[in-house]
Amino acid sequence: MAKDGAAYICQSCGAVHAKWSGQCSACNAWNTLVEEVQSRPPGALAPARGAKARGLAFETLQSEHAQPPRMLTGVAEFDRVCGGGFAPGSAILLSGDPGVGKSTLLLQVCASAAARGARCAYISGEEAVEQVRGRAARMGLAQSPVKLAAETSLRDILDGLKREPFDLVVIDSIQTLWSDMHEAGPGSVTQVRAAAGELVRLAKRRGVTVILVGHVTKDGSIAGPRVIEHMVDAVFSFEGERGYPFRILRAAKNRFGAADEIGVFEMSDAGLREVVNPSALFLNDGGQRSAGAAVFAGVEGSRPVLVEFQALVAPSAYGTPRRAVVGWDSGRLAMVLAVLEARCGLGFGARDVYLNVAGGLRISEPAADLAAAAALASSALDTPLPQDCVVFGEISLSGDVRPVGRMEGRMKEAAKLGFGRALGPAAAMDNAPIPVTGVRRLAEAVERIGAAAWP
Ligand code: TYD
Ligand code: MG
Repeated sequence: MAKDGAAYICQSCGAVHAKWSGQCSACNAWNTLVEEVQSRPPGALAPARGAKARGLAFETLQSEHAQPPRMLTGVAEFDRVCGGGFAPGSAILLSGDPGVGKSTLLLQVCASAAARGARCAYISGEEAVEQVRGRAARMGLAQSPVKLAAETSLRDILDGLKREPFDLVVIDSIQTLWSDMHEAGPGSVTQVRAAAGELVRLAKRRGVTVILVGHVTKDGSIAGPRVIEHMVDAVFSFEGERGYPFRILRAAKNRFGAADEIGVFEMSDAGLREVVNPSALFLNDGGQRSAGAAVFAGVEGSRPVLVEFQALVAPSAYGTPRRAVVGWDSGRLAMVLAVLEARCGLGFGARDVYLNVAGGLRISEPAADLAAAAALASSALDTPLPQDCVVFGEISLSGDVRPVGRMEGRMKEAAKLGFGRALGPAAAMDNAPIPVTGVRRLAEAVERIGAAAWP
């Protein structure tokens, strides 16, 4: 039995358990239960005897006050992901792996917003002021009027923020803060929740935009950002593949904008550079596409993005052939392979299959099915697709090719980048921006690829 007031809290999902066990029964993570002493915020759960409720004062949906204007930071890729700049008083969680560039991005956002007249504070619990200064100097931001502090005590931070008005406050990171109101150690679920709760309340009360940095952690030694996702208005993740300079800012939840928007950056010696035209970046340069390559006309958030799918189908040296995929869902690959086998007569049984999305982007749209299938078929049949062809369409288990959303936008982007034709669903597309080879069944597409028969 746990001690009085103590409980075992999963550091990954925040579920509370009465007993310790090796695996959290709520999120199935292993070794994440840590004993924490539960302290009750004064008066939160135990109202005084005889305390009277005050009733509810209902309001209407209309307001006499105009919505406060959004605050643009001037980092256009960031502003777009926010849904057109910050809504004052909002709380944002920015999560990402250690080293992906969260501190770099936020320092840049602060400096850019400060240059437009916003009062910005950057509070680091991980680095000393000198270290942040050093980074700012490297990024050419040393003259920026951003106010810096290195502090981990929640009490001191809240007090400091009450003394001075700010428009934007960055807390880097939420896992380093600790409050003396709670006995649990820094980085524990109890501490992270308490600190996030206080900071979100401060944001709402004083109209400050607060950005909390949260490290994604693989083990349960410190609480993951998931435990505070429901408290904040927006959750952004900053992602990047190791070995690629590209970084993607993705909105996973946003109360003030679209939730699937992305911003694209490139890490350079002097900080992050905004990538205005991501298609040019994700396409394998040189223009020469060999067998096994297919350009997918995708849509990420509000923007069409072209990316290259690369497949290699090769005889397997082992009893169990390999299936490896980077940048796409492995379950989806298994499905497309099964449809290619069952409906199109292509055999992958004794062959290794590798599928890669070029440039380090992760694709999750079902519209990419046909592009992946085209790349796989092209490699299996050793016939390249036409150089100027983009591909899009969803594949069903019966082998049908289904229409997808925003077909015109996809083709417009392709036309802009010099592509002259598309392979896609045979849905009615009058006046398409580029000629479409429409297919109803995946088998038709495979036949065309094998025969290299293109109009
Ligand atoms: P950082 O912002 O410290 O990551 P996080 O806060 O997410 O842990 O960035 C760390 C990496 O970025 C580090 O490996 C060095 C690299 N970097 C550059 O390549 N160029 C730069 O201008 C800066 C500031 C960092
Ligand atoms: Mg950092």
